[in-house]
Amino acid sequence: MSAITVGIALVPHPATLELLGGAIHELAQHWSLTPETLWRVEESGALVPNGFHAQFRRWHEARPRRCVAHGVGFSVGSPTREAARRAAWIERLRDDARVFGFEWITDHLGASRLGGRELTLPLPLLMTDASAAVVRTSLDELRAVAPDVGVENSVFYFHLGDPRDEGAFLRACLRERRSHLLLDVHNVYTTALNAGIDARELFDTLPLERVIEIHLSGGVDSDPRWLPGGATRRLDSHDDAVPEPVWELYERALRGCDNLRAVTLERMEQTVEDEADARTVEDELRRARRMLELVRG
Ligand SMILES: [Fe+2]
Repeated sequence: MSAITVGIALVPHPATLELLGGAIHELAQHWSLTPETLWRVEESGALVPNGFHAQFRRWHEARPRRCVAHGVGFSVGSPTREAARRAAWIERLRDDARVFGFEWITDHLGASRLGGRELTLPLPLLMTDASAAVVRTSLDELRAVAPDVGVENSVFYFHLGDPRDEGAFLRACLRERRSHLLLDVHNVYTTALNAGIDARELFDTLPLERVIEIHLSGGVDSDPRWLPGGATRRLDSHDDAVPEPVWELYERALRGCDNLRAVTLERMEQTVEDEADARTVEDELRRARRMLELVRG
C-alpha cells in the first residue's frame, strides 16, 4: 500500500491558485480534484472539459502527482437515478480518470439533486435500509470508473433522525468491499456543535475502519441576523483556518483509522486573500504532515 500523503484540494479560481502556488506545487503530496468543476455543460447537455481541466492537466503532466476525485454533484442519495445524466457523468469521469489517474472517487453523503433540480448543498437522507440501498447502487455506478469509491460524512443543518445514528447508517451504505468513508473532521465538529453533542462522542460512532481519506478544513459561525433571536450555526464554509478542536479530532482520527491513505486540506476559493492567508494554508499542510509522522511514524 502507498504511504499516507498530505495534499490539498484544487479550487477553480485563478487568483486563489496563484496565491496557493507554494502549497499546491511544493508542499502538497497529492491533489484532490472536484471533477464537476472541471467541466462545462454544452447546449446539447454534453459535459466537456473546461479551462481548469486543461490547466490542471498541464500541471499533472509536467509533474505527475497522486490524484483523487471528490465531488458533490453526483448525488449518491437521489432516489430517482436520471439515467441519461448519470451515464454522461460516468463517461466524463472515466475520461478524467484516464488523465489524472484517480486512485479513488468519493462524493458527499446526501442528495444534492432532487426532482431534476440542483440543490446548493446535499440534503440529509432518511437513515433507512432503503436509503442505504440507493447509496450503494450509486457507489456501484462510480465503481465503473475506479475500484475504490466512497462517501464523505456531510454537514447537514438538520437531520432526519439523531446524528448519532449516522455512523450505523454509513456502515450500511459502505458495507460492500472497497467502499470507503472520507472522514471530514471539521464536519464532525460542526455537526456536533450544531446538535449540542460532544464531538468525540459523535466521532466514535463512525466506521473508522472504513476511512480512506481525511479532510481538514475550517469554518465560521453564521450571521446572527439570519435566524430568530440572533441564534447562530457553525458553518462548513471552508473559509477560515483549521480550529484547534479539529486538530484534536484529527489526532484522534490518525490513531483510529488503520486503513487511511491520504489527508486533504480544503480551503474555499476566494477566501485566500493575501500572502498571510497563503502562509496559513502552507503552515496547516506542514502541521498535518508533522502530526501524521508523529502518530503513524
Ligand atoms: Fe470535506
